Amino acid sequence: MSMNEQVPHDKSLDNSLALMREGYLFIKNRTDKYQSDLFEARLMGQKVICMSGEEAAKIFYDSERFKRKGAAPKRVQKTLFGVGGVQTMDGDAHIHRKLLFMSLMTPEHEKRLAELTMEQWKASISKWETSKKVVLFEEAKVVLCRVVCQWAGVPLKESEIKERADDFSEMVDAFGAVGPRYWKGRRARTRVEEWIRGVIEDTRAGKLQAEEGSALYSMAFHKELDGSQLDTQMVAVELINILRPVVAISTFITFAALALHEHPECKEKLQSGDRNYSEMFAQEVRRYYPFGPFVGARVRKDFIWKQCKFKEGMLVLLDMYGTNHDSRLWGSPNEFRPERFKEWEGSLFDFIPQGGGDPAKGHRCPGEGITVEVMKVSLDFLVNKIEFKVPKQDLSYSLVKMPTLPESGFVMSDVKRKYSSQEWTY
Ligand code: HEM
Repeated sequence: MSMNEQVPHDKSLDNSLALMREGYLFIKNRTDKYQSDLFEARLMGQKVICMSGEEAAKIFYDSERFKRKGAAPKRVQKTLFGVGGVQTMDGDAHIHRKLLFMSLMTPEHEKRLAELTMEQWKASISKWETSKKVVLFEEAKVVLCRVVCQWAGVPLKESEIKERADDFSEMVDAFGAVGPRYWKGRRARTRVEEWIRGVIEDTRAGKLQAEEGSALYSMAFHKELDGSQLDTQMVAVELINILRPVVAISTFITFAALALHEHPECKEKLQSGDRNYSEMFAQEVRRYYPFGPFVGARVRKDFIWKQCKFKEGMLVLLDMYGTNHDSRLWGSPNEFRPERFKEWEGSLFDFIPQGGGDPAKGHRCPGEGITVEVMKVSLDFLVNKIEFKVPKQDLSYSLVKMPTLPESGFVMSDVKRKYSSQEWTY
């Protein structure tokens, strides 16, 4: 007999195949079916509790109850996260490392990143005007790679940008993959870590002048709680933990373009320059479209919640996608409706595309401000700075493949700038 009789169990011997078949909907399909915030399943040969919703998120982000040590599979560390990075730390050591990240994500830094992003978008137009078609996702990766390296103080040769951008993107693409996509991600990480270790070594040796306050400087000279310096490999992993996710904003930008295309009525509101609307639109893109599916942690010490025994060491998954589509929290969750954010009260646990809770105290993503600012400036660019056509293409996206993207990457044609360049102020 199972130890948790009161809790719904998925009957199959192992759900790994179902997870691969159902992707983003795996947890939600079952919490809906069982009418329960949680259920037990077996994944990759171990017992796992899957949970969804605001209450579940509150429990999940209680660091007395959960830890991250041993939660992320090695395969995810070897592609997406990096081995031993901030995502896998606990307690005071985690908080101290997290503050380093938080110090680089202030409103001033967000503003600088947004300005650089607009500059780079504008610089792309001349080339686009003479191109038959432009794939937005591919362009966004390159733009953001250039932007984040410039902002962080990491030197990047024009000739290497495309490869570096692809490498960052492949690390992200590998997180839900098996086979070739997984190996692509691993090789990409190896190349990028080697590159960034070199940059850190040059910075520490004074061969490369890093500006004080830049991400490169702050990371290269960061001190641990005991006053020691991090080793080069560890700094590389953490600096990549900033570079890679900024490039990954290209996914949300591509979905934002799709949303604009499917909801032309939103376009007019964005054209009016209403900053509140543009913020609501960006938030709705992050809620509605799939990117991060779920996040995992291990039980720190035994406790009971909703009649379910959480045993020390058990793996628990929190459904981010499902919580963002939970009809108890969001009216008509499967409709794209930016205005819903007018009424949103800003709970730390109901809108969790990048994790929940307080980022300074737990594992919630520290990069949400950057993500939203970069999305807003990119929307402004797409709506107010250029005109383009959307030729026939396959804009569908899979909810099974993780991570996912519109098939075509969002193709634009007949791109033209809207105003003469002098009028362009941002
Ligand atoms: C592109 C959109 C992004 C998505 C979908 C995203 C998603 C996430 C998620 C789901 C987590 C894990 C939360 C948890 O473990 O509880 C996370 C953590 C993290 N993110 Fe993001 N993120 C994005 C952008 C960014 C940006 C722009 C940055 C930095 C510039 C960033 C840096 C980080 C870091 C350092 C962590 C680890 C935090 C920790 O473990 O304490 N992310 N992100």
